[in-house]
Amino acid sequence: MSYNLLKGKRGIIFGALDENSIAWKTAERVNEEGGKFVLTNAPIAMRMGNIQQLAEKTGSEIIPADATKVEDIENLVEKAMEVLGGKLDFVLHSIGMSVNVRKGNHYTDMNYDFTTKGWDVSAVSFHKTMQVLYKKEAMNEWGSIVALSYMAAQRVFPDYNDMADNKAYLESIARSFGYFFGKDKKVRVNTISQSPTPTTAGTGVKGFDGFIAYADKMSPLGNATALECADYTLTLFSDLTKKVTLQNLYHDGGFSNMGVSQEVMDTFMKDQE
Ligand SMILES: NC(=O)c1ccc[n+]([C@@H]2O[C@H](COP(=O)([O-])OP(=O)(O)OC[C@H]3O[C@@H](n4cnc5c(N)ncnc54)[C@H](O)[C@@H]3O)[C@@H](O)[C@H]2O)c1
Repeated sequence: MSYNLLKGKRGIIFGALDENSIAWKTAERVNEEGGKFVLTNAPIAMRMGNIQQLAEKTGSEIIPADATKVEDIENLVEKAMEVLGGKLDFVLHSIGMSVNVRKGNHYTDMNYDFTTKGWDVSAVSFHKTMQVLYKKEAMNEWGSIVALSYMAAQRVFPDYNDMADNKAYLESIARSFGYFFGKDKKVRVNTISQSPTPTTAGTGVKGFDGFIAYADKMSPLGNATALECADYTLTLFSDLTKKVTLQNLYHDGGFSNMGVSQEVMDTFMKDQE
């Protein structure tokens, strides 16, 4: 179903790797809602994923950029405005990666070069993106910038490793930069804290199958899917949420406010028998 929510709006979507990616679903939905965009991902992801297919499907151009490199982001933002024919109304930052997680290093046994790399990719890249957008006056007034987060920023999920710290930093950047973007440019900045979702980044976390099932049992509405996350993101890009800013918005079927659910209790009691 389309509501034409994004008719006439232009933007950049970071992080579509394959059809499971949250950014992929968002690009498809933005397209259905009449928005135009440029797709971007790290040069290496061009070889690993199938972003070309998404570009064809949505009639979009791809401009590769490593989100840790300011020159790449500058090039991306300039070219995106050229290709789209004007300033931007929305930007989605859907990027995350921990080298410690990938290499199986425990939180208590980190390699700090890996920690720094993961922090740069997962958190500082959001600051870099916003700083380029800000300096280049690339956003239209009442534009909207969204990044994706996870509740490990607030609560302990042992296997989420250093991504927990990266997400806490990411959410803080959203508030700190969001202040200046709001005051100076009338642009809003928010993070969406999404349920565990079966994507390349998600399933890379140790014990993912367990905690996606647990979260689903815990949440009164069940886990939110990637497509549902895309739908929620659209509302934040639309003109219907103009005064929502500096927020970390939970999109998790209610998980974040639960203590325990009957289903989790039942499973636990079964184990006790
Ligand atoms: N999957 C989950 O369970 C879950 C839950 C909450 C939040 N999130 C967040 O959602 C976002 C999207 O992840 P996803 O689950 O769709 O997985 P995904 O693996 O499909 O997407 C992650 C993307 O980050 C990109 N990326 C990595 N390094 C980059 C770099 N240097 N420059 C530019 N792009 C780079 C990858 O190429 C990939 O496209 C991430 O921020 C992730 O942490 C995911």
